[in-house]
Amino acid sequence: MTLIAQITDLHLRPRGLACYRVSDTNMFAERAIRSLQAFNPKPDALVVTGDLTDRSDPREYAVGRELLSRLDMPVFVVPGNHDNSDDMRRALPEFPGMSESRSGKIYYAADVGSVQVIALDTFLPNSPCGEVGREQLTWLDGKLRENTKPTLIALHHPPALSGITHMDNMGLLDADALAEIVAPCDHVERFLCGHLHRPIIANFAGKIMTLAPSTGHQVVLDLTENGPALFNFEPAAYFVHFHSERTGVVSHMAYVESYPGPYNFFADEGVVWPGDEC
Ligand SMILES: [Fe+2]
Ligand SMILES: [Fe+2]
Repeated sequence: MTLIAQITDLHLRPRGLACYRVSDTNMFAERAIRSLQAFNPKPDALVVTGDLTDRSDPREYAVGRELLSRLDMPVFVVPGNHDNSDDMRRALPEFPGMSESRSGKIYYAADVGSVQVIALDTFLPNSPCGEVGREQLTWLDGKLRENTKPTLIALHHPPALSGITHMDNMGLLDADALAEIVAPCDHVERFLCGHLHRPIIANFAGKIMTLAPSTGHQVVLDLTENGPALFNFEPAAYFVHFHSERTGVVSHMAYVESYPGPYNFFADEGVVWPGDEC
């Protein structure tokens, strides 16, 4: 059994500063980390699918390092459009994959128990859009041929569209080229993405793509044509991707905050309710 947790879009800020004036993203991220620390069974690894920071400020990466190092498990980070690959590599050199990266992009693969995790970098300088790029695509093609374990591909920008126009306008520019490479690979089980700040499930190249909500603020669910770019505080959540021989890869969403329960389904067994007597 292998368990891969996924959090995304932490948008960390320098200590004491909120994001967009009202989103205390550092506090929200801390609550998500605490929830993960309490998760039983303990995940084998954590994937952070980008926008670790809000402005790629060294102080924001420092907050990220402190929070993520509380987790006693490998942490795989990929950059988002709010990060910057070079800044991230400099700020988090001890994190998996950072020192292996060639050129500007941060990309790497890791075996975690029964699955392979592949991290791709979609950061595109001076743009909110994403791009994988020829170099990473060639590397990905080779990796997928070399290792045919069930594979989870983590990247910030979702390769499929969502129907939320203002977010789709800052999507992945070379999704078609990515589709060509992954479509024939039956062992690609999931794309793990962020960027949309919403829980979304879609098909990409015949594979399941899951988008995790942010640990902080969420994008308003507005499917009207050209709806405005707004955020709210719908409940924060994360994913746990479970793999076993028996089940294959199963993706569960878990909420960060507490809620009523649990209650015993069978607490009332044997109780005769009014009207049930006859
Ligand atoms: Fe984000
Ligand atoms: Fe993003």
